[in-house]
Amino acid sequence: MREKIVLAYSGGLDTSVAIRWLKETKNLDVVTLTVDLGQAEDLQTIQDKSRQIGATNHHTIKAEKEFVEDYVFPAIKANALYERKYPISTALARPLIAQKLVETAHSENATSVAHGCTGKGNDQVRFEVAIRSQDPTLKIIAPMREWNLSREEEIRYANKHGIPVPADLDNPYSVDQNLWGRSIECGVLEDPSAEPPAEIYEWTSSQEQALNEPTYVNIQFDNGIPVAVNDRPMPPVEIIRELNLKGGKHGVGRIDHLEDRLVGIKSREIYECPAATIMIEAHRELEKSVLTRHEVWFKETIDAEWARLVYTGLWNDPFREDLDAFIEKTQERVTGSVRLKLYKGSAQIVARSSPLSLYDTDLATYNASSTFNQAWSEGFIQIWGMPTVVANIRNRQNRARIVKQTPPPQAPLA
Ligand code: ARG
Repeated sequence: MREKIVLAYSGGLDTSVAIRWLKETKNLDVVTLTVDLGQAEDLQTIQDKSRQIGATNHHTIKAEKEFVEDYVFPAIKANALYERKYPISTALARPLIAQKLVETAHSENATSVAHGCTGKGNDQVRFEVAIRSQDPTLKIIAPMREWNLSREEEIRYANKHGIPVPADLDNPYSVDQNLWGRSIECGVLEDPSAEPPAEIYEWTSSQEQALNEPTYVNIQFDNGIPVAVNDRPMPPVEIIRELNLKGGKHGVGRIDHLEDRLVGIKSREIYECPAATIMIEAHRELEKSVLTRHEVWFKETIDAEWARLVYTGLWNDPFREDLDAFIEKTQERVTGSVRLKLYKGSAQIVARSSPLSLYDTDLATYNASSTFNQAWSEGFIQIWGMPTVVANIRNRQNRARIVKQTPPPQAPLA
């Protein structure tokens, strides 16, 4: 009996030719696995295609809910943006797909697993670290990395073996999508000095074509998690879908990012992440209402660290749980609602309220009713600024001393 391998299968050209290649050159029985994370593709067609190319079995696992609850929600709590821009939508999905790959390998008695990543990106790292963290005995094969074919060679191979080649092959872009976002790479986008062509966008309108009237959305959070939109309680997956649609119509969530990949390459990435953009903006605002300034400042560092950790493929590192412990504790108070105005590409905060808000009108107001005693500030400023004032006095004295000790300039040489 031949050994079995489970391949993470998207239905695209790379993983399609990988089925045939694994059979042919590695002499393996290939089982394919497609994990549904809300990428809105035809799962039945993907299954049929896998069988037609020669997989011995195919699994489809619907994991949208798990993705949102166990990966997207922690990302919201961490306001997760890599390099302050990218909501790590692809990065979040990889450890979950890897987990399903390992589980399927076990249920199928497979000895190895495969993914379609090249050797230049982040996804190979994310998959392989997550797979090994769960089962270091599984062999990992990366056909695209090992084989290293050009696009043309790949198409020739596909044609030769009767592998269906996608109709939109003149489409030069590489796309990855799930509920948390859509990423677009390659083709003309590789010139970072040129504006992306309109054709690459699918989830979002341009600012010019966005709706002419604003839409207001009110997002209710309970303990850091979104639970209702415009006072309508909704299940997690629905909330994300709803905000993707609403935001998309207003051109919210287009991101053009010059990104530092883990392998050291800078790459130009385009994203469409309407729900993520709206949600992180809203969540961060609510945190500012309910957390003390020390918590807000420190959490910015924790949040950046969390995003970097997940971006760089270390979802399974205990460090994430350490960071989560801090984040989770702060979220106990992140309850309330935030109102945003979606209009012509922007998601602008217009109001926030929370029963746990630390905002105190009596302190903040400039009216006579204020309870803040302004006289206290005089002494406060003396003490607060004391070290700075002392340092400046010392520096001036030292500079004066140094100037006196400097020898007179010498005559220029020759
Ligand atoms: N640069 C993004 C990331 O590393 C997007 C990667 C897209 N992946 C893909 N297989 N097309 O998360």
